[in-house]
Amino acid sequence: MDEILKGLRASAEATRLRIIGLCAHAELTVSDLVEILGQSQPRISRHLKLLVEAGVLVRNQEGPWAWYRLPEEGVGGELARLIVDLLPPDDRKHAQDLKRLQAISEGWTARVADFFRQHAGDWERIRSLHADQKAVDSALLDALPGGPIESLLDIGTGAGHVLLLTGDRAQSAIGVDRSREMLNVARSNLFRAGLRHIQVRQADMMSLPFADGGFAAVTINMVLHFADRPDAVVAEAARMLGPGGRLVIVDFTPHHLEALREEQAHRWLGFDDDQIRSWCRAADLAWLPPRHLAGGSLTVALWSAERPVADASDAKDSSAVRLPGKVRARGRSTRQAKP
Ligand SMILES: C[S@@+](CC[C@H](N)C(=O)[O-])C[C@H]1O[C@@H](n2cnc3c(N)ncnc32)[C@H](O)[C@@H]1O
Repeated sequence: MDEILKGLRASAEATRLRIIGLCAHAELTVSDLVEILGQSQPRISRHLKLLVEAGVLVRNQEGPWAWYRLPEEGVGGELARLIVDLLPPDDRKHAQDLKRLQAISEGWTARVADFFRQHAGDWERIRSLHADQKAVDSALLDALPGGPIESLLDIGTGAGHVLLLTGDRAQSAIGVDRSREMLNVARSNLFRAGLRHIQVRQADMMSLPFADGGFAAVTINMVLHFADRPDAVVAEAARMLGPGGRLVIVDFTPHHLEALREEQAHRWLGFDDDQIRSWCRAADLAWLPPRHLAGGSLTVALWSAERPVADASDAKDSSAVRLPGKVRARGRSTRQAKP
């Protein structure tokens, strides 16, 4: 009861209601909200503080930036979503806010384009060396469990490629990356794709900020060759899988392009089946047949393994795959106008 009252009190103010309406569409910073709402930063910060304290918003700090979004669960999250559902799509102020959100998202897009202008040359060159991207994407989708995926974790998500690819199948998904710049690109891409049920978060793949066994699927797409300890990354990824959960790793098979170490900071020049299999075994995962996709001078392989259903942790929790609290899937609001 107290929590509901707290949430209701915090939300019962015009600007705070507008903030809730906006954060239902995207994770936003104070500066984004200042720009959209046309109010001073101290004012917006005060409103945000109140909403966070009441549990109606959550704050996610990434270096100097704080991002605000609706909580995935809890009384505050439920309340926020009820409020969002009640906002009339034709309300003049709300519609204007969404229009401005759309306009500032074009600014994000321009920044993304800038970022890619600086790096795209290298990326395109590397891509051209290996298998056709469409073939890799389609093999990755095939390697994932069939049908809807309750909860997906994409490790080293970069610009969110795998999240965009699986967006329609994943009921809930989160991408992690250690690069803030890449996460901003991913956020912008997810916003443009309308994938409001997907989040990204800054984290190192060696130590993921989630409890054990919370995901039905974990992907590591073209990331493992950057890891100092790929075996430890596989173990950490395996820790994320609930019973029956599937790990899919996509990376290069062994090659001799030494220049990639220098130019692209590749730590490993590909992996063979036996290496990946031994790391999966060590993490108690059941090995599935790998798939190799021939390309130019580089070959890409997909390695998959599963957390057995009769795992010891299964006995503790027979509800099998469960989401970590903060990533729980949410239905999308049916009454919201798209910005
Ligand atoms: C080649 S990109 C691949 C991005 C994405 N998976 C894709 O398929 O397009 C590699 C990504 O791994 C991320 N990365 C490298 N080391 C990492 C680490 N220790 N923890 C988290 N992310 C990392 C980089 O920031 C980069 O975004």
